[in-house]
Amino acid sequence: MDVVFLGPPGAGKGTQAQRLERLEGLVQFSTGDLLREHRTAGTPLGRAAQDYMDRGELVPDALIIEMMEGELDRTNGGVLLDGFPRTVPQAVALDALLARKGRRPAIAVLFDIDLSLIQERLEGRWTNPRTGRVYHERFAPPRVAGIDDEDGGPLIQRDDDTAETIRKRLVVYREQTEPLVAYYRGQGRLYSVDATQPVDVVSAEIERVLHRRTGERRA
Ligand code: AP5
Repeated sequence: MDVVFLGPPGAGKGTQAQRLERLEGLVQFSTGDLLREHRTAGTPLGRAAQDYMDRGELVPDALIIEMMEGELDRTNGGVLLDGFPRTVPQAVALDALLARKGRRPAIAVLFDIDLSLIQERLEGRWTNPRTGRVYHERFAPPRVAGIDDEDGGPLIQRDDDTAETIRKRLVVYREQTEPLVAYYRGQGRLYSVDATQPVDVVSAEIERVLHRRTGERRA
């Protein structure tokens, strides 16, 4: 099974992707993390993506689709996609790519959350830039402020987690990514979870969705 996580910035997609990768044996891809790695490495893609990301805009479809085709071509087995697709053309490209690999269309898990909660989630987020692991100063604090519990590395705040860029990312989400809700719902592939609940409760809800879906496909 291949799974797409869909939802606004700060809804908890990355948090849940990291937890579920371990539990469900799916290989996780975060387009945001991949792009940040390209930026750090100074690749042509990283340089091309930089200004879009800093402005809170989407990186052009052609660049993202090419990057994800490369990543998915190297993978066998189920994948968990965090942050891809984010536009209808990206969703169409993903469907075609999975069909080429002989796989069934991915299901989408929608992180349902009131957008008024997003600002607080993103302004309090701290990230390990090496592993992508995320914390929150109130909701999921590390044992020692500024230090990752797992590898002891420093935690940073992302450049695009400023009030102004968050506002822009929310507008971009509504205009360009929200249409995917209708795309997946129209094809009977959308499953919604209440992303306002505590992290463990959201994880349990997603696992229930995935297990129910696995049962439906076997039946
Ligand atoms: P990306 O890195 O994907 O950012 P995003 O979608 O804006 O998502 P976030 O990482 O901000 O949020 P999240 O939902 O993962 O939340 P998290 O788990 O961290 O993309 C960055 C940029 O890259 C884009 O703006 C764009 O430019 C570009 N890009 C990426 N993909 C692209 C694509 N496909 N096409 C074009 N451009 C693309 O949680 C947030 C905080 O909340 C954390 O502090 C966490 O600890 C806390 N939290 C999580 N869950 C809970 C909970 N249940 N209760 C309380 N707190 C919680």
